[in-house]
Amino acid sequence: MRVLITGITGFAGSHLAEFLLTQPGVEVYGIERWRSKTDNVEHIKDRLIMHECDMRDASSVRKVIETVRPDRIFHLAAQSFVPTSWKAPAETLMTNIVGQLHLFEAVRQIGITPRIQIAGSSEEYGLVHPDELPITETNPLRPLSPYGVSKVGQDLLAYQYHHSYQLHAVRTRGFNHTGPRRGDVFVESNFAQQIAKIERGLQEPVVKVGNLQAKRDYTDVRDMVRAYWLALERGEPGEVYNICSGETHSIESVLQSLLKLSSATVRVEPDPARMRPSDVPLLHGDPAKFQRRTGWRPEIPFETTLRDLLNYWRERVGAYAERV
Ligand code: GDD
Repeated sequence: MRVLITGITGFAGSHLAEFLLTQPGVEVYGIERWRSKTDNVEHIKDRLIMHECDMRDASSVRKVIETVRPDRIFHLAAQSFVPTSWKAPAETLMTNIVGQLHLFEAVRQIGITPRIQIAGSSEEYGLVHPDELPITETNPLRPLSPYGVSKVGQDLLAYQYHHSYQLHAVRTRGFNHTGPRRGDVFVESNFAQQIAKIERGLQEPVVKVGNLQAKRDYTDVRDMVRAYWLALERGEPGEVYNICSGETHSIESVLQSLLKLSSATVRVEPDPARMRPSDVPLLHGDPAKFQRRTGWRPEIPFETTLRDLLNYWRERVGAYAERV
């Protein structure tokens, strides 16, 4: 089975590649842009088949699809940081929505019939009212950022291509997921990185924070990528599924849990630059539909995930400190 991961050099993509390499009979293909950072897959790169491609360029996407002719596509390539989507909204919509359009058109025009997973997001729900919790797939979509809008666009484009052209697309709405290799801009990873730097004396003992009142439903990335795989193996084409643990944590409690794992004494300081024009206050998902269909259950407790994440940063920061 030829499996293509767009976004393989990213956080979830690299974990998905690791997972797929444990599956019998699977060849893992990935794409990278000519200046992509490939650190996340360096340890497995000799087992991957990489192609150069930019999702924003239709001809480059078409060429890869024609060459690989994948049986499965996991479409993870995206501009995934919410704050960047305010600074570069057009670029976010272009990469996320138009990039996916290029993928669909390439598949359609070449005439292959792969199964395609579309990585949507809980950010599509955006503003959710207290009486709508936990969030099911039928909840109205009220995105609060250009990023959220881009994910709604991707989601609906997959819906439409399924109905218009019978594309075997399965839409997943992933809630927050984290673990080792999580990008340092995302909140729990950023806090863990700051703590690791403070432990090494590379940062004054002040942790900078944004909105600590927000609440998010966290899943370990290793559970998340197993869910993506099951979405294509057992999910119904055209359908949409929440992937989440159903366990919600305030950002304040995430910070406190990380601080408990460290002996560092720190001061917490609000940083106005970390506030957003509109923040999604609360995400608490209902994974029942996906669980019924696939039997998936998250297995890794959140404490383990946070410990692994902090240890990841301790290693990286330690290696950096030794170099300088
Ligand atoms: N990034 C960041 N940095 N966020 C902070 C900080 C900080 O210093 N302090 C508080 N926050 C708050 C944000 O305002 C937000 O409410 C919450 O922490 C989580 O922020 P992020 O970690 O940046 O993630 P996100 O929830 O906006 O988006 C992530 O999850 C989505 C799924 O729900 C991303 O991974 C998206 O790509 C993904 O789709």
